Amino acid sequence: MIDRLENSDSDSSVNGKRHVAGNSAGAALMEKTGNSNKDPFELSFQFVSSMTSLVNALEAKDPYTAGHSIRVSNLAGKIAEQRNGVSPEVKEVQMAGKLHDIGKVGTPERILHKPENLTKEEFDHIKKHPLLAEKILAPFEKLKSVSNVIKHHHERFDGKGYPDGLAGKDIPVLSRILTIVDSYDAMTSARPYRPAMIPENAMGEIRRGLGAQFDPEFGEIFIRLFLTGRIG
Ligand SMILES: [Fe+2]
Repeated sequence: MIDRLENSDSDSSVNGKRHVAGNSAGAALMEKTGNSNKDPFELSFQFVSSMTSLVNALEAKDPYTAGHSIRVSNLAGKIAEQRNGVSPEVKEVQMAGKLHDIGKVGTPERILHKPENLTKEEFDHIKKHPLLAEKILAPFEKLKSVSNVIKHHHERFDGKGYPDGLAGKDIPVLSRILTIVDSYDAMTSARPYRPAMIPENAMGEIRRGLGAQFDPEFGEIFIRLFLTGRIG
């Protein structure tokens, strides 16, 4: 059996705050990228509509995902901004955050919502979502690098993650950022199978995972942002 608390980063598309539907990732995606003149990816309105539709499809299947994707997007953007200031990679990681769980449209709802621990077979099913995201996004040439960031958002710094078991700096930079904030938001969100962890305890878990699951440099940035009240 798979301990879902320990693997909270690995099956993290749900959160307990269903009331955020009006601030869904789909709506936010539209709002933030709707103006093609200001968009670093020079996305067309049609393109943004397609992405919004995809996110909406996932949210319809799993309402918990709505708040999760947009929070992950915002938190990831803050770390990227600390690293290099306001740069294209901030927008890129924000976009990756919004779309990072899109592959879960292929995960059966009975697994997504299962209150008990997952069997190995069920967990193997969930582990397919980064590669499925890559497939879903493949027709969009402009999302090539975003797609690669998403593909590797469940790699671990020690090489024990998936899908490719990449380690350390071999993991794309923005994927390493995404992993940290995805795990944090998963831990601080209520799930069908466990209550939410308080932020202080979740930060403790991030700290314990530095160098193992998480990139130490970005983990330290995230912890510093938290300690200085810039994230809650
Ligand atoms: Fe994921």
